Amino acid sequence: MKTLPKLASAAAALCAAGATLAQGNAPIKVGLMLPYTGTFAALGNMIENGFKLYVQEQGGKLAGREIQYFKVDDESDPSKATDNVNKLIKRDQVDVLVGSVHSGVALAMAKAARDSNMLLIIPNAGAVDITGPMCSPSIIRSSFSNWQPAYAMGIVVGQKGVKRAMTITWNYAAGAETVKGFTEGLEKGGGKVIKDLTLPFPGVEFQALLTEIASQKPEAVYAFFAGAAAVKFVKDYAAAGLNKTIPLYGPGFLTDGTLEAQGAAAQGLQTTLHYADNLDTPRNNSFRKNFALAYKANAAVYAVQGYDAAQILAAGLNAAKGDLTKREVLTSAMRKVTVDSPRGKFTISNAGNPVQDIYLREAKGINNEYKAVAVKGLADPARGCKM
Ligand code: PHB
Repeated sequence: MKTLPKLASAAAALCAAGATLAQGNAPIKVGLMLPYTGTFAALGNMIENGFKLYVQEQGGKLAGREIQYFKVDDESDPSKATDNVNKLIKRDQVDVLVGSVHSGVALAMAKAARDSNMLLIIPNAGAVDITGPMCSPSIIRSSFSNWQPAYAMGIVVGQKGVKRAMTITWNYAAGAETVKGFTEGLEKGGGKVIKDLTLPFPGVEFQALLTEIASQKPEAVYAFFAGAAAVKFVKDYAAAGLNKTIPLYGPGFLTDGTLEAQGAAAQGLQTTLHYADNLDTPRNNSFRKNFALAYKANAAVYAVQGYDAAQILAAGLNAAKGDLTKREVLTSAMRKVTVDSPRGKFTISNAGNPVQDIYLREAKGINNEYKAVAVKGLADPARGCKM
């Protein structure tokens, strides 16, 4: 009779082991919702490759579990975003969502993730509301808020003594938020934005707006474009001769992953971002070497953000020993991690956004070279996140 409790506890232990084993054997399903076509296509590919590089470096597994990928091309189209994210949530039944680049798309993803209690890691889109009023324990960003690099650029341009600046960007959430951050930083230094110019996303008809800049003659222009559109904008700005008289600034997206295509037009451009190509640390050097070996391409900031999205997921999975049902253990470990990123170490705020150094960089050859720390340990301002 004495053996009965022993048997019972042995059976219970077996059951528990069985449950972990069943989960342990199944791959973790990662849903990548990214732009694979359109002006942000290169950004989407960089993010995917960065994510996969980290997983590969761990032997293809995180916390002992294989990773299985499901992909949707979101085309950077917010009107298709809810349908697209539901393909991953409902059809593919993924365990975790990773996406996206475009703020409008990411806002729809965040809503769907909240509605279905899905884990979401955002490897680019900077929409401030996602780590503000829409915050959730299950939503974490590995990238930036649109305010962060913009504010830093405003501070730097203000320090240069600029009093009258103009801005130019697309008319959508990220454009409006980046202009707001820049204006705030510039005003701190006593400067002013005299006019904001916009065009619809993903338009590239810059000519009339460049004419307007030429006639207003500001002391500086702040521009946010990215991907293929950034290539065209920087070239058009130089072709109009504006680069000779009115210095162009922007968040680093203006020149990240685009310098080869921009050629001479981008040389010397100063931008602010949470990454610089030539950060001479063992972490960044090995990341860039491995990325180049695996994908025959130079890593841009988007690759770093994808890589760090996988690092953040790994931190959660390791704490939960690969058991996704331990949601609270998983998400709190994801928030508490200090990410050993190629950009430098960073932490995650309570609202789920990186707290990080923003660098001033200068385009030289095919690199955005580090010049200085523009703002150290910059946290996005509190935006009413309540969990
Ligand atoms: C955004 O929509 O939030 C966005 C897109 C591209 C970038 C940066 C931000 O390079």
